[in-house]
Amino acid sequence: MAASYLLRGAQVVSDGVQRQADVKIAEGRIKQVGTDLAANGAKTIDCAGLHLLPGLIDDQVHFREPGLEHKATIASESAAAVRGGVTSFLEMPNTSPATITAEALDSKLAQAARTSCANYGFYLGATGENCQMLRRAAQMPACGIKVFLGSSTGDLLVADEEKLEKVFAAIPAGMVLAAHCEDDERIRTRLAAHIAEHGEQLPMSLHPQIRDHESCLAASRLAIRLAKKHRVRLHILHLTTAAELDLFATGSLADKMITGEACVHHLWFCDQDYARLGGLIKCNPAIKTDADRRALRAALTGGQIDVLATDHAPHLLAEKQGNYKDIAAGLPLVEHSLLMMLSLVRAGVLELTDVARLAAHNPAALFDIKERGHIRPGCFADLVLVDLQAQTTVSNRDIHYKCGWSPLDQVQLAGRIEAVWVSGRLAVSGGELAEDGIGLPLQYDRSGRS
Ligand code: DOR
Repeated sequence: MAASYLLRGAQVVSDGVQRQADVKIAEGRIKQVGTDLAANGAKTIDCAGLHLLPGLIDDQVHFREPGLEHKATIASESAAAVRGGVTSFLEMPNTSPATITAEALDSKLAQAARTSCANYGFYLGATGENCQMLRRAAQMPACGIKVFLGSSTGDLLVADEEKLEKVFAAIPAGMVLAAHCEDDERIRTRLAAHIAEHGEQLPMSLHPQIRDHESCLAASRLAIRLAKKHRVRLHILHLTTAAELDLFATGSLADKMITGEACVHHLWFCDQDYARLGGLIKCNPAIKTDADRRALRAALTGGQIDVLATDHAPHLLAEKQGNYKDIAAGLPLVEHSLLMMLSLVRAGVLELTDVARLAAHNPAALFDIKERGHIRPGCFADLVLVDLQAQTTVSNRDIHYKCGWSPLDQVQLAGRIEAVWVSGRLAVSGGELAEDGIGLPLQYDRSGRS
């Protein structure tokens, strides 16, 4: 049974405002938010000078289990996530086997129930061959459906337009289709042309020219055209180019059928960093120019992008070295995403209320996640207490990913995580994991969507 807590006097950041308040937690939920609340036996924590945010809901992570446990497991990465203030995650289907059947989904849910420190949801992957199952997806315990228009880790690629059309036609009315948008044929042609010109040993700096702007734009345009034709709720993942942003409307999330996500690494790094970090920052879609980075940052407050996440994609350090073509794509990020966001707040790019909106309220609303993502009475107590005056220096020596490294090694980030609650249980205290394996399955309410 979860203990009761009274968090006294924090700056509470939720629903567009920041105000000093007390927060009472009991039976896993937020019971009260107000001033001078009585403890009535609850453990009181003095939060003066600290900020309390809703725990982040990361809508794009790769935790690699089953099949790729040498890189990561649900236990290892969810523990790292919770240490970083990410209290819920939506995990991608490119595991081995891929999550493309009801059985594979059930088996991931069962493993997460045994080992996940954070609350969990899993995507079903679209293959072009499993449309019959996708049609029933709204009745299944999946957070959404994922389609890869561009290839990445694993073999879940649906590049053929006829197959793609079948996938879009099969998506049930209430479900979100999350899409990785890169034009695979164009990428393959460009890679072959560069190899023909320069030989097999290509420099890492060519990555954003091989997986170029036009590859992203063409695939995003195609996905949006199909979504409009088939009336699908489309969520385009990890946007990287300024040009794509024109495809997205501003305005209220509730009115949108087409939404976009940005990831922290695309806001942090730019193509000038390949010289220093090489394969460590190879990811798909590629990190692009400083101008793209600036446009993505502006779109978070401008309203074209509604969700901020990580695409946490761990690989062994050995897999991130060698010849350009063979280097695995993806960066481990989930332990530091909140501190990266707080660094963007310190730099004046975001407000604290934007962090809560983009990384907690909006993912909860978009995926119809019940009773999470806000600091409101009645919601589950998924909370993160941070000291904004402090600094945290990332070090590979005390990283908690199974792969044991971060692209941010030795970088100083704004803020320090003081405590984290997952469904009302104190999961992190004083920088240490207080309880593990306590994540709950996310529940979805799609009743208003049909
Ligand atoms: O860089 C990436 N790595 N992008 C993706 O979309 C997949 C991910 C992975 O699974 O490694």
